[in-house]
Amino acid sequence: MTVHLKSTQEIEKMRIAGKLASEVLDFIMPFVRPGVTTGELDAQCHDYMLNVQNTIPAPLNYAPPGYSPYPKSICTSVNHQVCHGVPGEKKLKVGDIVNIDVTVIKDSYHGDTSRMYYVGEIPIQARRLCEITYESMWRGIEEIKPEKYLGDIGYAIQSFAESLGCSVVKEFCGHGIGTKFHEDPQVLHYGHTGTGLQLRTGMIFTVEPMINSGKASIRQMADGWTIVTKDHSLSAQWEHTVLVTETGYEVLTLSAGAPPKPVFRF
Ligand code: MF3
Ligand code: CO
Ligand code: CO
Repeated sequence: MTVHLKSTQEIEKMRIAGKLASEVLDFIMPFVRPGVTTGELDAQCHDYMLNVQNTIPAPLNYAPPGYSPYPKSICTSVNHQVCHGVPGEKKLKVGDIVNIDVTVIKDSYHGDTSRMYYVGEIPIQARRLCEITYESMWRGIEEIKPEKYLGDIGYAIQSFAESLGCSVVKEFCGHGIGTKFHEDPQVLHYGHTGTGLQLRTGMIFTVEPMINSGKASIRQMADGWTIVTKDHSLSAQWEHTVLVTETGYEVLTLSAGAPPKPVFRF
């Protein structure tokens, strides 16, 4: 495995791409309302990226080995959809939770981030899952420091989520990112402390746990992309792109509307 350590010049470009990705999530927030379709959210983000930001939506036509080209510009994963939900005719309704995942390319560099959105008032269990998932992402990020291990991140996420009766999706992971959308290393959201790759200053990767309220098992829908929980339990995900610095970490996907690091509560 070759993990590319980014130069100062590359880090500056990743800061710009990361902030732009987060600003798309800020922009779309007021549109996430009862009655809007996920396809309309995609169209709004697509226009904003192309015409306002001059960024390229990385998902559009993205085709990793074994996949058909992804047909849209963002991913919208509603309720029991875990990730890679394909925007379409589905209308959002009061009580839904939806993950919006945005990846932009600016000046050849990628910024990748996602948040959970609430459609009107949502059930208390849905809110709890979203908050647990947010805290689990941040507990993972807080482990990041040179000489620490990828397993420290995975352990922090898994031990926290499972202690609260939730489960971690194992089939998808965080990833290195730069001029490529997905590169080494793979960042598992489960594992054991002191195992796996050791972190080094200049690494950039995502932390993006998918946490289910029920069992961890998933399946892929007939569209070849959308992933759902097998037991139809709710699933949540948050994602940041993070740089390993000499003293710890720097989150690259922040903007005015990004929620702050939480007070660890659970
Ligand atoms: N943004 C997702 C990630 O965090 C990947 C989406 S691939 C797509 O890695 F093709 F579905 F967009
Ligand atoms: Co990602
Ligand atoms: Co993403």
